[in-house]
Amino acid sequence: MQSLVIEEQALQREIDELALITEAAPPVVTRVLFSEADLQGREFVRNLYREAGLILREDAVGNIFGRWDGADKKLPAVATGSHIDAIPNAGKYDGVVGVLGALEAIRALKAAGFQPRRSIELIIFTSEEPTRFGIGCLGSRLLVGLLSLERVAALRDRDGKDLEFWRKQGGCVGTLTSVKLPKDCYAAFVELHIEQGPVLEAENIAIGVVEKIAAPSTLRIQLTGVGGHAGATLMPGRKDALLAGAEIALAVERAASTTASSDTVGTTGFFRIEPGAVNSVPCRAWLEIDLRDTLLKTRDAALQQIETAVQEICTRRKIECAMERLNVDPPAICDARLVETVATVCDDLDLSVKRMISRAYHDSLFMAQVCPTTMIFIPCFKGYSHRPDEYSSPAQIKNGVAVLAQTLAKLAA
Ligand code: GLV
Ligand code: MN
Ligand code: MN
Repeated sequence: MQSLVIEEQALQREIDELALITEAAPPVVTRVLFSEADLQGREFVRNLYREAGLILREDAVGNIFGRWDGADKKLPAVATGSHIDAIPNAGKYDGVVGVLGALEAIRALKAAGFQPRRSIELIIFTSEEPTRFGIGCLGSRLLVGLLSLERVAALRDRDGKDLEFWRKQGGCVGTLTSVKLPKDCYAAFVELHIEQGPVLEAENIAIGVVEKIAAPSTLRIQLTGVGGHAGATLMPGRKDALLAGAEIALAVERAASTTASSDTVGTTGFFRIEPGAVNSVPCRAWLEIDLRDTLLKTRDAALQQIETAVQEICTRRKIECAMERLNVDPPAICDARLVETVATVCDDLDLSVKRMISRAYHDSLFMAQVCPTTMIFIPCFKGYSHRPDEYSSPAQIKNGVAVLAQTLAKLAA
């Protein structure tokens, strides 16, 4: 494919405009699944898809597909895409670069007169972020058939609302059984994303190509103690749910920091107490714990260590505990040939490239189960992500879009 014109200013304007659709005051971006902002964000991107001439389809969980028909519609399509939902207090690039950047890649290919033989499909995955239900990659898990309908029916948000409630809010139609992709639907999946870590920037490398995605897991814990008056309840015999939770959070830190691997990371990212009054002993606490490693065995051993610690802490403090594994996923190994394809494109474009691990998870973790998959990473400022000052420059994004476009052209030709 000859050199393509990537309209970086237009793309930046779209990224900036989408960032203004948020539940919080800009520059903070918060777009939780099927919130007003998420719905508006989806409509914003749908309109851009239409303007670009993509054929739109939406499934029963709200995954959005924009298709550019290839000359041979019977061939498995080449897919790309990412997510536009954003955790509370996020920035504007996570996921969005892989959605709007992919759209720009397609526009550039169209403008250059490229005619794909295979169709190219741009996917916006529903709820890559775990904020609503505690479990990430809801859309891609269902697409590849890795989440049973029983598990889906049991999902609850922090207010007790289920997916059926939120599907209605989201205007989703159809049954969840219809979401699973048919066999051999895609020939390949390539996701463009900011690195969300500091490596590419520190080493002054333009592009990362992902060989492996670390194995994530999530625990949700509900602790019930006994509340009471902060002045009149004497210290002996108290059953303070917050203190049990605090010990658990420290146990998570201990478990993650004492494995043989420096890749183990453990975070108690959510901690809520009731009643939350200064003069009242906390009677209930909710915690959500995120634990990951690139090695499955190491992650699983740390997970076991945390669960044992939770039991010990709650028994000793006489606190009732309900603990649930929301997800315990294996790592994904990316397709070696696809990795080489991306690396070759980088060489052709004179862009430095590094083969790397993704420590963050992505919908690619699940797409890798059904088709050859890899990811294209671009550097981001100091590796910041999941915070409002997340940043990649227009030039860095342009490099990523150019690599994605040429990769799609090779795969779809
Ligand atoms: C995705 O947002 C992750 O938490 O890795
Ligand atoms: Mn994210
Ligand atoms: Mn993301």
